[in-house]
Parts: sequence; structure tokens; C-alpha cells
Amino acid sequence: MHTKIAASLLSANILHLGDELERVKNAGIDWLHYDVMDGWFVPNLSFGLPELQAISKNTDMFLDVHLMINNPELYIKNFAVSGADLITFHLESLSDPFSTIRTIRHYNKQVGISIKPKTPAKALLPFLDEIDVILVMTVEPGFGGQGYLHQLTAKITEIRNMIQNRNIKIEVDGGIDHTTAPEAIAAGADILVSGSYLFKQQDMKHAVNLLRIIK
Ligand code: DX5
Ligand code: ZN
Repeated sequence: MHTKIAASLLSANILHLGDELERVKNAGIDWLHYDVMDGWFVPNLSFGLPELQAISKNTDMFLDVHLMINNPELYIKNFAVSGADLITFHLESLSDPFSTIRTIRHYNKQVGISIKPKTPAKALLPFLDEIDVILVMTVEPGFGGQGYLHQLTAKITEIRNMIQNRNIKIEVDGGIDHTTAPEAIAAGADILVSGSYLFKQQDMKHAVNLLRIIK
């Protein structure tokens, strides 16, 4: 199976979002990555529910929602009914991950757990039989356009080994471009999120193919 690419809309031209959705789809990109920030879990604000509803009404692409918010359990229902296909929350953002996993399942959505750079891989161990995706942050969450933290590549490998034969996909988010993608793929990434690199391209399709190449 080829590496999936998830385009992070944080770097899209918001004034022309409809055209951007077309561009992403025509480039053969697999998923739309939708970053939600609350100015509390991370020191930035981004999109919320109305934007997701508008996007989901205008695309048939898979919607990968990355919640960078405190107490995400309060908003699972809202994101589920607004069009999310996968809902990923941060392990550092809540007190009862199991209950939040159950809520996401209740709405028949895929479940993802994300960890920040300083959170060890072993923190994921109790949840491995309950989730579909592990989102490994390779930058401190909150902003697009940051540099890939190479010291986290070993954590991707560690997680790859930890999940054994379970059907869990590893998604890597932060600083992915044509130079860092091969490193993340070789370490075990199944899905790469890319924002600033993809949206600045004239030829997005070509850029996507570069991201999928293992050097
Ligand atoms: C950062 C977000 C990322 C971000 C990635 O906190 O979670 O999804 O948009 O952007 P780039 O690809 O520019 O690092
Ligand atoms: Zn993200």
C-alpha cells in the first residue's frame, strides 16, 4: 500500500478554499487534515465547527480531524456530526481517554490518539487495542511551517515495533517535505501530514509523488 498523504488545510488559501479542495483532490491526495486549536492546549487558534461543516458538504474526501484542544470529550459529538471521519485527540489533553474513545466509537468514527514530542511512546500502550491511528507529532503542535524534529524519528520506529501486528496506522505530522518524508516512511509512517510544503507548490501532484518516494 502506498503512503497516504493528508493535506493540512491550515496552510490552504482560506479565501479560495473551494479551489484549494479541488487542487488537493486533483493532486491525488488521500485525506484532508483539519487542525483544530483552542488557544489553550496550544498557543494558537484555527478552525472550528462551521468551517468543517462547509468543507464536508463540498467534498467526498476523507476528513481527518486533529483536535489540539483541552477537554476534547466535550466536542466529540459536534465534530462527528459535522463530517469528521477520523477524530484524533491528544493524550495530554484529557483525563479519561477510554471514555472519549467510546464516545468516538458511538458515532462510528475512526479513533486516533496523538502525542506531543515530549510524550513517550509507551504512554500509548494501554490504548493499542482500542484505536485506529497514532498521530506522532514531529513538531510542537500549534503552528504550520516548523522544521521536522529529527530526534523523533526513533519514536516512530519505537511505535512501529510496539503495535506489532495490530491494524493501527502511524500518521506523522509536522515539518514533512520531500527531504524529511523518506526518513519518516523508513521509520514506519503510513500516513504523512503536509501543510506548508504542499500548499506552496505550483505542481502539487508532483510534490505528492516526491513525498511518497522512499530514498
Ligand atoms: C501543527 C499541525 C500540523 C500543521 C503541519 O500543529 O498539527 O498539521 O499544519 O504543517 P507543516 O506541514 O507546515 O509542518
Ligand atoms: Zn495536525
